[in-house]
Amino acid sequence: MTPAGFDHAELRTERLTLRRPVAGDVVAVHAIHRDPLACAHNPSDALRTPEEAADLLERWLEHWRGFGFGYWVVRRHDAERTLGFCGVKLTDVDDRRALNLCYRFDPADWGQGFASEAAREVVRWAREHLPALPVVARVRPANTASQRVAVNAGLTRAEHLDRPGEDGPDLLFAAGWESEHLSALTARR
Ligand SMILES: CC(C)(COP(=O)(O)OP(=O)(O)OC[C@H]1O[C@@H](n2cnc3c(N)ncnc32)[C@H](O)[C@@H]1OP(=O)(O)O)[C@@H](O)C(=O)NCCC(=O)NCCS
Repeated sequence: MTPAGFDHAELRTERLTLRRPVAGDVVAVHAIHRDPLACAHNPSDALRTPEEAADLLERWLEHWRGFGFGYWVVRRHDAERTLGFCGVKLTDVDDRRALNLCYRFDPADWGQGFASEAAREVVRWAREHLPALPVVARVRPANTASQRVAVNAGLTRAEHLDRPGEDGPDLLFAAGWESEHLSALTARR
């Protein structure tokens, strides 16, 4: 599906650098995923041990090796500290191939617009480079901040796609779903 050499290791926004993860990111992956606040709405994502963090990071790296994109590590330009993670991975929704948008940031950095800024760039990138694949975000009903990030990134509520998730019912947000669906219907006429 992805052309040879397809590799978008780094994206940039006004304040942020998004880069491809490396093995050394395991410390930040563990620190953010073991913070109870960062997984309050999605307890199934919580990690306890460094080994669990290494396993999760390896799955991210495997996706990058296979497809040339995945979850990026988000930092301020010229800063070492990891603010969080944001990216897309392949998923299936109703037997349709799609990109699952995900973001998780260090609670110490919440409320400064970082997640919205990163997610907006990731969705812009996905729609430009993988336009055949709709982008979806699965969000727990009480996770208002995450719903706002999805909307800020350009996704709209897609009630018809709502479904049970790992931690209970998920609300679905999507970009590119309806237009693809409509163009497929038009093509069939
Ligand atoms: C969701 C998350 C990424 C937002 O990160 P952030 O950097 O604080 O997001 P932003 O600063 O871009 O704020 C996004 C919006 O959420 C709002 N918001 C932030 N915290 C909020 C809260 N606790 N309750 C309600 N709204 C909140 C902001 O006001 C902003 O709204 P606006 O666009 O209407 O102004 C962060 O809270 C997080 O990492 N949560 C844990 C992981 C998670 O839930 N990921 C999503 C899984 S589906």
